[in-house]
Amino acid sequence: IAQLWGNRPEDFISAIAEVKDRGYQAIDLNMGCPDGTVIKNHGGSDLILHPADAARVIAAAKETGLPVSVKTRLGFNNLDTYKSWLPFLLQQDVQLLTVHLRTRKEMSKVPAHYELIDEIIAMRDAISPNTLLQINGDIADRAAGLKLVQEHPGIDGIMIGRGIFNDPYCFEHEPKEHSLAENLELLRMQLDLYDEFTANFGPMHFQKLKRFFKIYVRNFSYASDLRMALMDTNTTTEVREILAQFDQEWAAHKAASVTA
Ligand SMILES: Cc1cc2nc3c(=O)[nH]c(=O)nc-3n(C[C@H](O)[C@H](O)[C@H](O)COP(=O)(O)O)c2cc1C
Repeated sequence: IAQLWGNRPEDFISAIAEVKDRGYQAIDLNMGCPDGTVIKNHGGSDLILHPADAARVIAAAKETGLPVSVKTRLGFNNLDTYKSWLPFLLQQDVQLLTVHLRTRKEMSKVPAHYELIDEIIAMRDAISPNTLLQINGDIADRAAGLKLVQEHPGIDGIMIGRGIFNDPYCFEHEPKEHSLAENLELLRMQLDLYDEFTANFGPMHFQKLKRFFKIYVRNFSYASDLRMALMDTNTTTEVREILAQFDQEWAAHKAASVTA
């Protein structure tokens, strides 16, 4: 699924043709992004302020024949906006609606408004029973998502955002302890994906990759030393070299502690 943002129907038609060619099977329309630059360019949560544009964009996306979903927030500045905005979106008959249970103004700084879930399910049931409803906001992991689904029958799916930064295994069916070796293997997988993406789609911003290192490198002695060394790198090759060196030193350290 490719997610796109913007407000001009013609852009969506050409962009979707391109992503279709690249093998994507569905389109998610971003109507929730709080970023100032995105909003200035009339995308993301700015669509909440311009419902007519939102309807045109959805109609254009649907014309391409791919399944279309929308991801949005409860409102821009006012929480009460959900009372008109969500019914409006449901009237557009999208296949799936993801609701991040906060307004744009609230960013991710307040607890998600779980108290509104049942009302939103009732809206969906009344206006567009075939639209799948996905709930997002403060869901830490799969178990927390399943609990929410049990407490609010009618939810079709959950979306986890920042939970992945805290626990890279948050989607696991049966949570268990993970070894340092497994964590570093995951980091190496992300490095490989980064290189693959760069090769296919042009240079990425390496510095931004660094924010993810702490997800994998923590909770063991020397974690902060290793993290500091990784933060000093400028290429994925340098990261791999440091990890290889660390593997050797860690093996020697473990062998020494066994002997002691
Ligand atoms: C670093 C980061 C990048 C994000 N990028 C997107 C994005 O491209 N599209 C989107 O719909 N939401 C994006 N989000 C928002 C999340 O999908 C989600 O709505 C938000 O984090 C709230 O969920 P959470 O409380 O589980 O984190 C992003 C969030 C973060 C923290």
